[in-house]
Amino acid sequence: MTTSRAPQPAARSGELMRLPAYRSTDPMPQHTDGVIDLANNELMLAPLPAVVESLRHGADHVHRYPDPTARTLHHAVSKCFATDPERVVVGPGSGAVLQQLLLALCAPGDDVLYPWPGFDAYPLLVAQAGARGVPVPLTAAGEHDLPAFAAKTTTRTRVVILCSPHNPTGRRIPHTEMRAFLTALPPDIVTVVDQAYVEFDEEEDTSDLGLMHAHPRTVLLRTFSKAYGLAALRAGYAFAAPDLAALGRRTMLPFSVTRLAEQAVQVSLDHSQQFTRRLALVRRERQRLEEGLRTEGLAPLRSYGNFVWLPLGAAAERFAVAALRAGVRVRACPGEGVRISVGDEEAHRRVLAAARDFKAAHGG
Ligand SMILES: Cc1ncc(COP(=O)(O)O)c(C=O)c1O
Repeated sequence: MTTSRAPQPAARSGELMRLPAYRSTDPMPQHTDGVIDLANNELMLAPLPAVVESLRHGADHVHRYPDPTARTLHHAVSKCFATDPERVVVGPGSGAVLQQLLLALCAPGDDVLYPWPGFDAYPLLVAQAGARGVPVPLTAAGEHDLPAFAAKTTTRTRVVILCSPHNPTGRRIPHTEMRAFLTALPPDIVTVVDQAYVEFDEEEDTSDLGLMHAHPRTVLLRTFSKAYGLAALRAGYAFAAPDLAALGRRTMLPFSVTRLAEQAVQVSLDHSQQFTRRLALVRRERQRLEEGLRTEGLAPLRSYGNFVWLPLGAAAERFAVAALRAGVRVRACPGEGVRISVGDEEAHRRVLAAARDFKAAHGG
């Protein structure tokens, strides 16, 4: 007698098709004329003129393939952080680098823990790697619930994702808590600390990679999309122990980082003074936005990213609708809150007008 088994690919495709498409948690219309978009945590500032110039020059060469393993980007990151190149992984965005790491590390039956609400791509990337996602709810204050992470860790747990500053709440994980958590974690579990917004966190020294050295199974995941304002170009990187980094490099899609992206990164790193000035500006505007919202009677969390979180619970979508009426698109996480990227003066004027309308109609 033969036993018949469902073919694996069919089982896999069913599992993948059950996943929500990326972004489906955002109920608001995506592009509307005349509306300022503060829904994507993009940098509020236009690209540096030198970056634009490098793209113009690079346009003459787009008939040529880029380097298959993005050696210019790899070298630029290693040099900028004075790090052993063996500890560096690059890819077309930090989302892609996370995908590379999960594909390399996970097997069917493995669990990956991540904070929720969190970056929308986490569930998708975990499922693509064939692993099971275990969302760990944030605390009521919008913080990582590290004891809950520890409690949900089992022998099946392969990777833990933490995010600091966290998307969408903007809260950071204090060093002492992070270190205590990593010290107590079983040594075979890999922790990816998603630091997509770390440059906006004034309490963080981004050149200090001590966490990775002190905890060899800890990966620091970063991007040029946010603070460097290169979101459309797709360039991300991670620091990890050499064996982990080598795995992450093996799963990179060859030719996936463009030469344009590599050159724009190089130019951006060469303009570090302008970068520092721009960061200070974003932090200042973030503070003004937080203060403005408080003046309107709302209670934004103190953020360490380039965005502000309003924990509005069931009223989140109502606020997003009021914002759209005021000419600004914000990100609603239904049932949780609203995330507003830091914008310019006009954008904030519209946000505060929406806050006033919202308070008047709903009493907050
Ligand atoms: C927490 C977090 N991680 C990673 C990413 C991915 O960024 P990218 O792939 O553009 O580097 C994002 C983008 O919004 C994010 O919010």
